[in-house]
Amino acid sequence: MGARSAGDVVVAGLKRLEYRGYDSAGVAVPVEDRIEWRKKAGKIVHLEDEIAVRPLPETGTAIGHTRWATHGAPTDANSHPHVAGRIAVVHNGIIENFASLRAEFDVEFASETDSEVAAHLLNREVAGGATLVEAMRAVAPRLEGAFTLVAIDALEPGRIVAARRNSPLVLGQGEGEYFLASDVAAFIEFTRDAVELGQDQIVELTTDGFTVTDFDGQPAEYTQFHVDWDLSAAEKQGFDWFMRKEIFEQPRAVADTLLGRQNHHGELVLDELHIRPEELRRVNKIVIIACGTAYYAGFVAKYAIEHWVRIPCEVELASEFRYRDPIVDAQTLVVAISQSGETADTLMAIRHAREQGSKVIAICNTNGATIPRESDAVLYTHAGPEIGVASTKGFTTQLVACYLLGLYLAQVRGMKYGDEIAAIIAELEGMPSFIQRMLDRAEDVYALADELKERPSMLFLGRHAGYPAALEGALKLKELAYIHAEGFAAGELKHGPIALISQDLPVFVVVPPAGRDQLRDKVIANIAEVRARGAHTIVLAEERDEQARANADTFWPLPHVSTLLQPLVAIIPLQLFACEMATRMGHDVDQPRNLAKSVTVE
Ligand code: M6R
Repeated sequence: MGARSAGDVVVAGLKRLEYRGYDSAGVAVPVEDRIEWRKKAGKIVHLEDEIAVRPLPETGTAIGHTRWATHGAPTDANSHPHVAGRIAVVHNGIIENFASLRAEFDVEFASETDSEVAAHLLNREVAGGATLVEAMRAVAPRLEGAFTLVAIDALEPGRIVAARRNSPLVLGQGEGEYFLASDVAAFIEFTRDAVELGQDQIVELTTDGFTVTDFDGQPAEYTQFHVDWDLSAAEKQGFDWFMRKEIFEQPRAVADTLLGRQNHHGELVLDELHIRPEELRRVNKIVIIACGTAYYAGFVAKYAIEHWVRIPCEVELASEFRYRDPIVDAQTLVVAISQSGETADTLMAIRHAREQGSKVIAICNTNGATIPRESDAVLYTHAGPEIGVASTKGFTTQLVACYLLGLYLAQVRGMKYGDEIAAIIAELEGMPSFIQRMLDRAEDVYALADELKERPSMLFLGRHAGYPAALEGALKLKELAYIHAEGFAAGELKHGPIALISQDLPVFVVVPPAGRDQLRDKVIANIAEVRARGAHTIVLAEERDEQARANADTFWPLPHVSTLLQPLVAIIPLQLFACEMATRMGHDVDQPRNLAKSVTVE
């Protein structure tokens, strides 16, 4: 809210947030004692078309929303804002007890959403004489689940009230104008000064300022921060897709994530890691929790940590973790990996682990997000904003952070000599130029994408650290090209998956580097096995690996790096391939169907 036309500012902000959900969008403004709104199913362009035909009145206050459907199909009626009487509301999250709350009203609801009930609850309060902020204090504690609610009242046109529980909300502080959003990207054009709102807090905004209270109305503490990237980082800069731009940013993102991690004695120092070395020495088990791509980064970390630190390390899908009654205690170190820092499954797993007394270290790319805030310590990746829904630089920088954490644990626990750690760091420092070499060969990858674009299914094989890389390659293809793609441990092939091999089936194989010769030989034998059954093999192996080359229908050379670091280079052509396949198939690469960038509901 502020001096500009708030409706326009909100639509511009929604466009920057569209990657978070793109089923439908809408805007509402308070005007002459009533609410006016426009909302449309589909992408924001439909909302813009609607506003072009029926312009919104110019106001100083507006709210808007871009949706990822939970309850109710993506229709105009189910789009937000939801209006009841004087109140308009937008909601992120899920109100789990919406059915019982809805039963309190003897009126027909306009939508099938869980969210609309919040508008009715607030409207009942203001109709009974409460101010908007009093109404929010009465309603928010009654809602179960996850929510960020932002509301306006037609009779208080210069005011916005928002509440949050388990869902993100940040406040942007401009000059005489304020912005509320689930991500700073929405208002980065106007200000880089922001405020993190805490759990169960309510913020009340007018043009004169803002106040933050808890649900009981008591003043609450909040943290101010300055965003260290600017608008250009959130734009495509000549690339056709954010995803492609982010793939090409990886040399820089990896280098930035490595920056400033050593003192002048060459020792690793992870400044943000506020867990005392004595506590890290007491740890007897590490559990890594994450979802999707972050889970695959954690899977690589397991190989590295067990090898370097010699502590048992489990990696677990965050969504499974707390439901299986995991054995974790004060001697367990939990590492939670999340690019967005807002993934609900990961957040809930963190809370569960901390309740059992475990310390949690978050690896996160988003300053001030809920996950780092609710963890004991954080190691930030410095990838810059990741807008493409498919994670790319998020993944490689998570790998780097995991390697750093593994090496730091090895240092603190005396499991490696300083020169051994320094040698691995030096190798990591060489990775940006290796990644660049992979990117320089993008045209070869694109040519194969063109050749294979009609294929209905593809397999990805890998072994050791190459196995999670294969899983991640398959995930990229599934989410972007919408084709059946599966990753397997190459050693499992004969235990079942080989039955899937048919004539011309594309099979991507990540071959371990020389130095792991036993493993490498076995993977080469696997390539021969699938090729003998008619598969089209795309082999990612060291440039000098003539045997691998001889077994390849298509050969993608990799630089010589150690086995544990190989995913950092092997994933690059797989990301490029998925991006290009989806482009050539005519799909929206940045906003694949049914997906949202951060999954803030369980
Ligand atoms: O923000 P997070 O890293 O917690 O997100 C985890 C997953 O939702 C995410 O990696 C997802 O799998 C991506 N679509 C992968 O490209």
